[in-house]
Amino acid sequence: MNQRETAWCLLTEFTQSESLRKHALAVEACMRAYARKAGGDEELWGLVGLLHDFDYEKYPSADDHPYKGSEILKERGYSEEIRRAIMSHAQYSGVARLSPMEKTLFACDELAGSLRPQRPPRRHHRRRR
Ligand SMILES: [Fe+2]
Ligand SMILES: [Fe+2]
Repeated sequence: MNQRETAWCLLTEFTQSESLRKHALAVEACMRAYARKAGGDEELWGLVGLLHDFDYEKYPSADDHPYKGSEILKERGYSEEIRRAIMSHAQYSGVARLSPMEKTLFACDELAGSLRPQRPPRRHHRRRR
């Protein structure tokens, strides 16, 4: 399996919801498009987009997402660069968005979220308990 296939398996292992899977695919497509524009690594940017919410269905609270996901990604050998970018998509994580890939992930997440009619995933990043 290539990296994309491995990441898809991870996403679908944790995410049964069709709308969340579609959100992941939309953010992946957006990331790939912007990687081409910005001269970024399309595979890397795409993986980050595909996986940024993979833990959300199982761990939706702001105490868990994306922290749990980040631990799981570490166990499965995903790079610090990927994990840091995913952490940075949550406003409350305290991880600043520094690289073009991190800034683009945030923008693509907003964009893909805004296309969803009910309960856009972006809202979970605003909510604090
Ligand atoms: Fe998220
Ligand atoms: Fe998202």
